Amino acid sequence: MLEFKQNIRGNVALGVNPLGCKQEVWNQIDYVKRKGTYEGPKKVLIIGASSSYGLATRISLAFGTGADTIGVSFEKGPKNERNLGTAGWYNNIAFREAAEKEGLVAKNFVQDAFSHEAKQEVIDYIKNEFGGKVDLVVYSLASGVRKDPETGETYRSSIKAIGEPMVGPNINMQEQSFYTQTLEPATEQEIADTVKVMGGEDWVLWMDALKEADVLADGVLTTNYSYLGTELNHPYYGNGTLGRAKADCDEKAAIINELLADLNGKARIVVATAVTTKASSVIPFFPVYCIGLYKVMSDKGTHETPIMHIDRIYRDMVYGDKPEYDEMGRLRPDSWELDADTQAKTKELIEKINEDNFTSDMTAYDLFYKEFSNLSGFMVDGYADEEVTIEELKALEI
Ligand code: NAI
Repeated sequence: MLEFKQNIRGNVALGVNPLGCKQEVWNQIDYVKRKGTYEGPKKVLIIGASSSYGLATRISLAFGTGADTIGVSFEKGPKNERNLGTAGWYNNIAFREAAEKEGLVAKNFVQDAFSHEAKQEVIDYIKNEFGGKVDLVVYSLASGVRKDPETGETYRSSIKAIGEPMVGPNINMQEQSFYTQTLEPATEQEIADTVKVMGGEDWVLWMDALKEADVLADGVLTTNYSYLGTELNHPYYGNGTLGRAKADCDEKAAIINELLADLNGKARIVVATAVTTKASSVIPFFPVYCIGLYKVMSDKGTHETPIMHIDRIYRDMVYGDKPEYDEMGRLRPDSWELDADTQAKTKELIEKINEDNFTSDMTAYDLFYKEFSNLSGFMVDGYADEEVTIEELKALEI
């Protein structure tokens, strides 16, 4: 019998519990089903579908609106007992199995979404097998690297401040320590490279290719998740390299809106709330913001996990009658996070967090740690130990 160990390096999870991942996907499906169905898209492509926001989107749309889905992600399957692959691999499988049981199409592409090949294969699949054009394209990639499909050059993103160095507190979940981190300001090259990786260029390439191939339905919508945050994280996020990449997505949304005009289509930036994900756990200082924010929001009853937030976005806002837009036409479900009282209390709390109290009840460290663990199939509600062999895991079909 395989033993699953939670193995964390810094704030990066290395271990995975495949059965825990399955239970976590089921829990999210259950959440959506308990909310009931809603009217929405029927044929959805999700780029970055295997974890957190992308996975939650796929679950809400499949089990909330009965949508057929295509998910693109970059994950690894099991090799041997010491290398079981990545959580997203098992999330993809658990999702597909559950969706197929309900008679839904759930196709997984495990490929580099930045490549021309991935785009072509998805297009061929839509044309030949999906059974209809796509009415929603969700762009939910988070990546540290991107290989330019034209030049073959590889770019790396950096999460840095711009202009001045930033000094602040951070936590290390592996060591359960609280420390002061210094972040050097980004060079011009690092800013440009981060925009290249996390900006909107590839989103445009996808939409261009999909339109050119005539696989987009009339009235198609495409969404892209952004983060703006608050003065508590502007120095290293909004005003830093990631903020530049997100601003680039705003610009690219305008280009895609032109591209989709004759299809009556629309590109929509969705400014989402701060949540615990593989990507956000490694943003410097951000975990400290989260353990303060989550505490305040939990007390107010407004704290959300990705599935709660995403389901609210599509059920109530995108396809419902409670959208909140800003002056740039971006959807703003992050209004709960940005609420003035929430921010004031978070600021006050964060200023009190130190090495002696960061794991105490005063903060939401335990919640953050649990959500982080859930991403790899650990500490999952409802999980019961089951026996499984490496051969059985290897035999699972993506
Ligand atoms: P995540 O790390 O949980 O998921 C990223 C997804 O992208 C995974 O499915 C992964 O397999 C896929 N991916 C990465 N590189 C790929 C590649 N080369 N080819 C194919 N798939 C690839 O990330 P998370 O946090 O869900 O982020 C998704 C989006 O949401 C990002 O744009 C992020 O900036 C945004 N966002 C995140 C917030 C947060 O607090 N985590 C807040 C607001 C927005």
